[in-house]
Amino acid sequence: MFTFRRLLKTCALFGCSVTVLVSTAQEQVKLGQAITEASLAEFDLIAEPSGISFPAGSGTARQGKIIFENRCSVCHGSNGEGNSAATVLVGGDMKSLDSPLRTVGSYWPYSSTVFDFIRRAMPANAPKSLTDEETYQVAAYVLYLNGLVAEDEIMDAKTLPQVRMPNAEGFIDQSHIQ
Ligand code: HEC
Repeated sequence: MFTFRRLLKTCALFGCSVTVLVSTAQEQVKLGQAITEASLAEFDLIAEPSGISFPAGSGTARQGKIIFENRCSVCHGSNGEGNSAATVLVGGDMKSLDSPLRTVGSYWPYSSTVFDFIRRAMPANAPKSLTDEETYQVAAYVLYLNGLVAEDEIMDAKTLPQVRMPNAEGFIDQSHIQ
């Protein structure tokens, strides 16, 4: 099913500009009514591969382990092994013809998406409940579980987008094809 969350994730992965009219619990926004800056800010969260729009703050995987255990492991397992194909965060092999498995480590081309997606959509039972600092910490932990950063490596607006993903070259840019 093509959910709103999936649309946002696709945009975070591949980049696109989305204009959304939204209804929040706090404020009913109707068609034709200008959206307020405060309401818009809740959705203006795209942290780009180039490093643009990352907030202040930093964190390490060692710090993130505790938050991950408390807020994420119920669905993703303590080591990112997941409790369904959708919740596996680690391992997988996109080159396997029999069972390609999309995970953060095997599929995602940009590390910025790890921060962006967690900040807007996770934990799935309470999205946007993490502080920016906590988001840096758990994002560092997810990257660490995938063997992409060291346990005490500081992830911030500068370092996190620079983490190179194994599948960075796995996508073909067809935007020039008419
Ligand atoms: C209540 C269950 C639940 C909790 C708690 C939860 N998640 Fe998720 N998470 C999911 C589901 C379900 C998906 C798949 C969503 C989709 O594909 O649209 C997902 C997807 C993800 C993904 C993308 C995986 C991929 O390869 O597509 C990341 C990264 C992630 N979660 C991180 C976290 C982090 C970090 C936390 C804790 C702060 C967390 N999640 C807490 C259920 C949960």
